[in-house]
Amino acid sequence: MLRSIAKTINSVRYGNLYERVHKETFDVLPNLAQSVNSMIESIVDREDMIKEYQNDLNKKIDVLKEVEELKEDFVATLTHDLKVPILAEKNMLGFLLDNRFGELNDRQKEALLHLKNSNKELVELVEILLETYKLNETKIKLNVEETDVNRLIESAIQEMQPIADTDSINIRYWTEYDKRVKLDEFYIKRVLKNLILNAISFSNPSSTVDVALCNNDKNIYIKITNYGKSIKKEEIKHVFDKYYTTAKKFRKVGTGLGLYLSNKIVKSHKGRIFIETESDERQYTTFIIELAR
Ligand SMILES: Nc1ncnc2c1ncn2[C@@H]1O[C@H](COP(=O)(O)OP(=O)(O)O)[C@@H](O)[C@H]1O
Ligand SMILES: [Mg+2]
Repeated sequence: MLRSIAKTINSVRYGNLYERVHKETFDVLPNLAQSVNSMIESIVDREDMIKEYQNDLNKKIDVLKEVEELKEDFVATLTHDLKVPILAEKNMLGFLLDNRFGELNDRQKEALLHLKNSNKELVELVEILLETYKLNETKIKLNVEETDVNRLIESAIQEMQPIADTDSINIRYWTEYDKRVKLDEFYIKRVLKNLILNAISFSNPSSTVDVALCNNDKNIYIKITNYGKSIKKEEIKHVFDKYYTTAKKFRKVGTGLGLYLSNKIVKSHKGRIFIETESDERQYTTFIIELAR
């Protein structure tokens, strides 16, 4: 009888929850038989409960996924729609500054220039948003070509200088490399503009942003340095996270997507971005893009 009970228990142990102690055993060992059967019943009940929980949980996960997708769709559409009026504004400001609506005095011109620069910053922000959400849907498809890196860096600087002008920041550039590098011009320019925009945002007013291009036998290094508000050592591991931003602390507009996107782009080039920082005498932060030559 005991052997029969042991067999039942073993059978349950290997997952057969239909097994019960046989009737004959009840006549001889009623208490033990009853206990074992009750135990199996309670295992069955618990198993059912777990399944129910699991179903519930799966349903909740599905709903969450749907909400997440809706949210991303919403942001992507909204961002796209935002771009239209912002670009219309940009054109109109350009016309005004070209005196198409009459001659402007110096103060009017200055005010419009400020507007034009903040409009440019908005365009950059919206573009970062759009590209991030686009990349969520598809993997980055690189269009790699032999590129004149100096020209690329110079054109990124030229585009960002007006934004820097608003805080009287001067962007300087040094280069010690003049060969072409295989990269996706569009995406690397996005990265350069993101890093320069950050450098401007986290600079002391009236300081400089220093950009340098150097190399060793294997790689090129594009270094972007800003002074003041240097990044904290314990912050470094978070800055590439999606949505991580301290922009509000500095009264800036930030999405926390710039470095997330930049890192993705550089990684897809099999390169990396790393950070050097010093908080002793002169506070600085340097973001370095490493790409294969
Ligand atoms: N050059 C920099 N100097 C100091 N802090 C920086 C610099 N670049 C980025 N950071 C920090 O990393 C955070 C994330 O940057 P980013 O992803 O571009 O988002 P956002 O610029 O929208 O805040 C910033 O909010 C800031 O705290
Ligand atoms: Mg940024």
